[in-house]
Amino acid sequence: MSDSDVNRLVAVARTARDRALAPYSGFKVGAALLTKAGVIYGGCNVENASYGLTVCAERVALLKALSEGEREFVMIAVVADTDAPTPPCGPCRQLLWEYCGDIPVVMANLKHVAARHQMRDLLPLPFDRRSLDTDVLP
Ligand code: THU
Repeated sequence: MSDSDVNRLVAVARTARDRALAPYSGFKVGAALLTKAGVIYGGCNVENASYGLTVCAERVALLKALSEGEREFVMIAVVADTDAPTPPCGPCRQLLWEYCGDIPVVMANLKHVAARHQMRDLLPLPFDRRSLDTDVLP
């Protein structure tokens, strides 16, 4: 992935973050998911008064893309206004692994890229389709 691809993705995630609905936590997050065909889907976190129903920026981006028929992804960027990188939460890792596979996850803040990790390192020993294959059960 070229630096300009990464920068373009991070820029979309920053713009998406501006649209975050985070009145309860005050923690605004943006995400941007790049498809194999070069299309980018942005997402922001959407909170609500029933706190537990909050949807993270990563899942908003992913569900937007999936619902438009996208199936092949190459990279995701996550942006928050923090010095330390903001990694995807557990449920987001589960869905990203299942639908995007071992893509790079770029974590950035409002100024620079803070970290980059592969999905396989963020979700080791995943529960996925293979776990449901009863043929491999003892
Ligand atoms: N959040 C995200 O949108 N993505 C992350 O990677 C971490 C957490 C949101 C959920 C909630 O709206 C707020 O950040 C605080 O947890």
